[in-house]
Amino acid sequence: MKCSVCKAEAVVKLRAHNSAFCKKCFLEFFSRQVARGIEKEKLMTHEDNVLVAISGGKDSLSLLYELVHQGYNATGLFIDLAIPDSSASARRTVERFCQDNGLPLLVKELAEEGLAIPDVKEAVKRPICSVCGKLKRHWFNKIAMENGYTVLCTGHNLDDEVARLFSNTLRWDQAYLASDGPMLPAHGRFVKKVKPLWRLTEYETATYAFLTGIEPHIAPCPYSTGASFTTLKGVMQRLEYAMPGRKLDFYQGFIHRGRKGFEILAGDIDETLHACPECGYPTSADDLCGVCRLRRQVASYRESRCGK
Ligand code: AMP
Ligand code: FES
Ligand code: ZN
Repeated sequence: MKCSVCKAEAVVKLRAHNSAFCKKCFLEFFSRQVARGIEKEKLMTHEDNVLVAISGGKDSLSLLYELVHQGYNATGLFIDLAIPDSSASARRTVERFCQDNGLPLLVKELAEEGLAIPDVKEAVKRPICSVCGKLKRHWFNKIAMENGYTVLCTGHNLDDEVARLFSNTLRWDQAYLASDGPMLPAHGRFVKKVKPLWRLTEYETATYAFLTGIEPHIAPCPYSTGASFTTLKGVMQRLEYAMPGRKLDFYQGFIHRGRKGFEILAGDIDETLHACPECGYPTSADDLCGVCRLRRQVASYRESRCGK
């Protein structure tokens, strides 16, 4: 198998792009896809002060590495969730990665907020993943806003995005479909959020990490059931196998043509926000925001346990 660009021996074949690449040409292809994804959807510019949320996984580490390679002024952000058998080794991976590459890193420990995920899990007694996601998003935003970052990047890839879009479509969730996409603009006290890997599949980011020598943290979260989006990803994978390129077409078609209709419908959904009386962040809840409510819930659960 020869590289479609330079005719050297190819190391990877991409059916969706009807191409095979050697290492050098694959890395150039990857950079081009990231650059195109950023330019097409106006995700950010070289003037931005960029914060990249890194979990230690292949996607977010590859993203930070590539953005710095492209000359962006980028800092990593790791949220330490204090999950046994997972957070400590993910943190070591992230710290080593940033140190080896001379990259600045911010670390936020949820334990210092009284919100270590095992404590939250015990107190809320419902599936932890969505609560954990909400906490992570809260701190991504807060840390970006309070430290002067103009854009927050996450490592979501095309497979993540297509699975989410497919899931929202199956439920015809108008509000989510109106805001699905690789860019959520800044508004009020919410920083701009972007997903620069939206054109690249999981296979492509894994190949990039492997070829650049990135060593990601691999152990799955012990609280994850593994079910989230797995079935939907499998269905899309089968479709992609039969019709190479379908995933990217589906997603691009949605952001360029499909989403407009949902934006019009969502215009009617009026969500009034006010400042949380405790932390000051905008919330649609009547009183405390979700995070402050959770903090109280965890604290009172702990008190009730101590009293026993
Ligand atoms: P996930 O929801 O675990 O697939 O993660 C999606 C994206 O969220 C990752 O690519 C990262 O950009 C970000 N992320 C997830 N967990 C963390 C974490 N503990 N610290 C910082 N960023 C994270
Ligand atoms: Fe949040 Fe597993 S990473 S519950
Ligand atoms: Zn080549």
